[in-house]
Amino acid sequence: MGKCYPTVSEEYLKAVDKCKRKLRGLIAEKNCAPIMLRLAWHSAGTYDVCSKTGGPFGTMRFKAEQGHGANNGLDIALRLLEPIREQFPILSHADFYQLAGVVAVEVTGGPDVPFHPGREDKPEPPVEGRLPDATKGCDHLRDVFVKQMGLSDKDIVALSGAHTLGRCHKERSGFEGPWTANPLVFDNSYFKELLSGEKEGLLQLPSDKALLCDPAFRPLVEKYAADEDAFFADYAEAHLKLCELGFAEA
Ligand code: HEM
Repeated sequence: MGKCYPTVSEEYLKAVDKCKRKLRGLIAEKNCAPIMLRLAWHSAGTYDVCSKTGGPFGTMRFKAEQGHGANNGLDIALRLLEPIREQFPILSHADFYQLAGVVAVEVTGGPDVPFHPGREDKPEPPVEGRLPDATKGCDHLRDVFVKQMGLSDKDIVALSGAHTLGRCHKERSGFEGPWTANPLVFDNSYFKELLSGEKEGLLQLPSDKALLCDPAFRPLVEKYAADEDAFFADYAEAHLKLCELGFAEA
């Protein structure tokens, strides 16, 4: 499936570059990479490949989408971003949120995910209920990532590795605690912790643990735990697909 990226103006490209610098500064200052990555993912993960609705098209700007249960707490990310958003009115909200996700991974030591600008903002939010439910297992993960979003088994495992960053907050999701000992460092420790079992002070969601029980998923968990380079390569590829769902389709 070839991508056909739109051409944007020189002025737009300059704004992307400058905005990227401002985002690096903000994320470093506020230690907010995890919630920025969650914002970008929840913006993109609503894509439905059949109806071509939802996806990374800036609709998180609407209060209605911020109010979806799965998005609890993301208003904090949007508030943190406001001072930067104001400086770059030329950028679409769509590009802006996805740029924040890419920078969050970069700033915490993760792989470089290529960024292609030119997403347009959609006029209305997707229906609620398209993001995965943390209490469910592998069939549900495939329903959401493969059937709905059009991604692969490998993408599911690689993208789950994003839980190397951040934590759960009781008042947002009902769960509490980080997945790893260094929630501000993007590395392969999520997979190492997953394989080594429950540990005091750390958390594993039912949807994380499910990866261990599936014959297609488990070998990937083992591979990423043993080989960080392999994880980074597959993560970068999967994140690129995620942040371009429904964008620049040939
Ligand atoms: C596989 C299905 C997934 C489920 C069920 C899931 C579920 C959750 C839950 C329940 C939280 C806690 C939210 C809170 O209480 O603050 C969370 C946090 C997070 N998720 Fe996921 N997630 C999934 C996939 C992903 C993906 C694909 C990414 C990114 C590529 C991602 C990135 C994050 C990050 C960075 C946080 C931490 C946010 C923070 O510290 O504020 N997740 N996820």
